[in-house]
Amino acid sequence: MIVRVLARLRYAWRRQGPLGFTRLAGRNLVHYTVGRRRGLSLSSTEVSFDHEFGTDTAGIREIGSLDVTDLAAARHAVRYEPSSPQLVRIALEKLSIDLAGFTFVDFGSGKGRVLLVAASFLFKEVIGVEFSRELHEIALKNIARLPSHRVRARGIQSVHGDAAAFDLPHSDLVCYFYNPFGPPILTLITERMVADHDQKGHEFIIIYHDPRHREIFERTKKFTILDETEDTLVLTTLRESESTRQITLPHRSRRCGAQVGAGA
Ligand SMILES: C[S@@+](CC[C@H](N)C(=O)[O-])C[C@H]1O[C@@H](n2cnc3c(N)ncnc32)[C@H](O)[C@@H]1O
Repeated sequence: MIVRVLARLRYAWRRQGPLGFTRLAGRNLVHYTVGRRRGLSLSSTEVSFDHEFGTDTAGIREIGSLDVTDLAAARHAVRYEPSSPQLVRIALEKLSIDLAGFTFVDFGSGKGRVLLVAASFLFKEVIGVEFSRELHEIALKNIARLPSHRVRARGIQSVHGDAAAFDLPHSDLVCYFYNPFGPPILTLITERMVADHDQKGHEFIIIYHDPRHREIFERTKKFTILDETEDTLVLTTLRESESTRQITLPHRSRRCGAQVGAGA
């Protein structure tokens, strides 16, 4: 564990330089301190999540136990294991952009826990794509149970299908991956993002939890690191102005305002 953390810190230092590294470290310190003060330990929020909403998002489902074993994509799939709601909330709260211009996509959305959390932010739309029909149907029920006062996004949906065949929405995107699949599928999706960025000017923010195949994004040379914690990497095609520390959209000279993420 300590060796992993040190390796990540060394990597971040090399990539970001002294100034960028200090900025990342500062942001992480603030957010974790705030999280502690709120008394929201990861385990307590996970336990209370389903209890609070009457949803069913917990538990681990091995790929072999799901209705996908006949699908070719199952060879590259990682089992269902839900994200910590607190982890997702913190990652979204850190984004200093106007989320109303972005669609959120969870690739490999399982029972939809991440969708439920993202729906409490002001996204244009929240979409999950999940290749197990069984998990997708549980996600639909979970979405239906989410009280309307918790939904601030303009729409929320779970789509049943292979993420490799999913057409990216015509929008700037915040893409969430909790290590859902291996390199063949991640490469296809990354290539699609790069093509949309180059040809349509769409901007991307990638939140990659347990980033085992981060080199797939890195070798495109289109993404820079916006944030990095021990187990989550946040990348973007957006350019960050060093002087103002605000994110600017290069193709359209659009400037994003201050922090708008308002998680529940
Ligand atoms: C580690 S779980 C993450 C679940 C959810 N994103 C979360 O963070 O709570 C990975 C999910 O990806 C799904 N998955 C794996 N391969 C997929 C594919 N090719 N297309 C769509 N979903 C896939 C699995 O069924 C599983 O539900």
